[in-house]
Formats: sequence, structure tokens, C-alpha cells
Amino acid sequence: MDLTEVREKALERMKGVCAVYKVCDGRPDRLCQGIKYGKPLGMGGIGKGMTFAANIEALDRLQLKSRLIAPHTEPQIKTSFFGHDVAFPIFCSSMSGVKISMGGNISELEFAQAVMQGCKAAGTIGFMGDTADTFADRPGLQAIREAGGWGVQIFKPREQAVLLSVIKEAEQAGALAVGLDLDGAGSVPMALRGQPVFRKSVSELKELVQSTSLPFILKGITGEEDAAAALETGCKVVALSNHGGRTLDCQLGIADVLPRLVPILKGKVVITADGGIRTGFDALKMLALGADFVMVGREFLRAAIGGGAEGVAAEAEFLSQDLRKAMIMTGCNSLSDIDGHVFA
Ligand SMILES: Cc1cc2nc3c(=O)[nH]c(=O)nc-3n(C[C@H](O)[C@H](O)[C@H](O)COP(=O)(O)O)c2cc1C
Repeated sequence: MDLTEVREKALERMKGVCAVYKVCDGRPDRLCQGIKYGKPLGMGGIGKGMTFAANIEALDRLQLKSRLIAPHTEPQIKTSFFGHDVAFPIFCSSMSGVKISMGGNISELEFAQAVMQGCKAAGTIGFMGDTADTFADRPGLQAIREAGGWGVQIFKPREQAVLLSVIKEAEQAGALAVGLDLDGAGSVPMALRGQPVFRKSVSELKELVQSTSLPFILKGITGEEDAAAALETGCKVVALSNHGGRTLDCQLGIADVLPRLVPILKGKVVITADGGIRTGFDALKMLALGADFVMVGREFLRAAIGGGAEGVAAEAEFLSQDLRKAMIMTGCNSLSDIDGHVFA
């Protein structure tokens, strides 16, 4: 199944929620955008969709410079995530809510399986999110278990006792890492379904971090204060993310956040970045700004809905080939060569 077929199938299955545009850019005239007035967010951004669009704009504003006169070597894009070898530094971001956001044509478990198995087949790592209506079934943990533990679970910032217990379940499923999307704290659908979510104090986060031997990820950091506080918790990964523009409108694009937060975080924790990455060229930009890994949301989501594990693997292959090409064109032989010199 090639990516064109995968995208055609996704268009069919996501009718009314996503038009599978050639470029998913969050512009106001897009099918998914516009204030939802109490209705589910679908695939779009929150509020006027400014943060969603800002993610893409911040990346597009950065211009690259070619550097081609040099001895040719094949770019080295292999790396490792807490001792686990990966073929390239692009992961599938944590997502959830097939029924409420993605058209509902496959089950949450099928989505999680597509992400975990497709990423594993492509040599990278799938992350899974957490949503109220399927929480009881733990689809992410089941898919991780089925993939031999090859995957990561991100939970919503639920009640502390619930988290302590599900973090243990993630350990038992053999997950590679576990974490929270802190920016899920304002989720109305969670509250309406009797599964409240909260902001978390440094001491509450410390308790969670210390409760597990797994590397702990704090996802949803966009500001200096949170970056500094995250370091106090003992977490191993800070995921710079605004949830694809779905939680707080009128934020900076993540490519604009990186230069502010990398000086605070670099070398102390693993830094991931997501938001608006559509190509390997975008991935190269985020890496050049200081991210250790990047994560891609909506592109993998459409691939999972349209083509299952095969679709996810095809998307991963596309992104990694694109990154390889971007590295050749900008004079980078290894991931450590990707720095500010790539910019015009
Ligand atoms: C439909 C949808 C559902 C999402 N659900 C979750 C979730 O459950 N947990 C989470 O951490 N992030 C969630 N995200 C955010 C993604 O992990 C990621 O931050 C975002 O999609 C990246 O931006 P991009 O889609 O522009 O690549 C979701 C995103 C989308 C589009």
C-alpha cells in the first residue's frame, strides 16, 4: 500500500472531519478549523485555531541553505532512545479519541495497534494517548504488550492515585517509557465523562517519576517556567508541544518555542518537539533548533486510519527518506551535524 492509496482511504474514512489536504496547515478555511461552540474538536485546533496554524507558520518561516560541495557519505540517521536502537529520530506522537475526533471508522485498539506495529516495523517508536471513553480498556497498553513492549504510553493528568496505578500497568506491559500530557489539564470532555484532569505540582510529578523505573516524559511544555520546573521533577524527557494547537489558542509555534527553551533544557533531559511537522525537512529544522527527537501527529494519524500498520510504516519510510535527503542537501553526514548551519 503506497502513501497515495493510504491517504485516499483516509479521506474516505475521515469524511467530514479531515479533508486530507496536500498540506495540513490549519488555515481558517480548512474543513477541520473554526470555533466549535461546545462540539468536539475533531482534527482541528482549539479556539480560532491560531496555535495550530502557528506551528506550521513557525516552521515555514525558517529557510534552509544547501551545502553540496563536500565528499559524499551516506547520512547516518540511526540513533537510540534510552538504550533502544531506532532507525531515525522521528516518532509517532501520542494520540487518542478515534470516535470523537477521527471519524470513528476503526476502533481505538485498532488505531493503537496500527501505531505500535507500524512504527516497530519501520524501526521507530509509536506513542499512544489516553481518552475518557476507552480508558477502561487500556487500548494503548494492550497494543504495546502485543508489540512486545515496543511503545510508549502517555496518560492524561488524572487523579494521582489512578496515575500511580496505571503507570505500574505500563511497566507490566513492558512499555519503553511512560508520561503525562500536562496540557490535557483543561480537557472538558474528560471532566464531562467523570474522569477529571488536573494541573500537577512539582511534588506530585516527583511522586509519579519516582514511582517507576521507566523513563518519565512530561509532554506539553511551552514556557520557561514549566521547563525549569520540569527539571526539578526528575523526568527524563521534556516534550515541547502545544498538543498540535488543541489545548490553548494563541500560543507560539513550537519552532519558535525551541530557541527559548533549549538553553534551559539541553543536556539535562532528552528534548522532543512536535507540532506542524509534515516532512523530513520540517523534522530537520526542529532537530537543528535543538530537539533530540521529533514527533509527528496528524500525518501518522491519517496513515493509521487509512492504512493501518502498513500505512504507518509507509508514512515513517516517507519521513525518514525525506530527512535523509534534507541532510544530504544541507551538508549533514550525521545527526550531530544538524545544527544552526542548515539555516539560510
Ligand atoms: C486528533 C488528535 C488527538 C490527540 N490526542 C492526544 C492525546 O490523547 N494525548 C496527547 O498527548 N496528545 C494528543 N494529541 C497531540 C499530539 O500528540 C501532538 O502533540 C500533535 O498532534 C502534534 O501536532 P501535529 O498534529 O501538527 O503533528 C492529539 C492530536 C490530535 C490531532
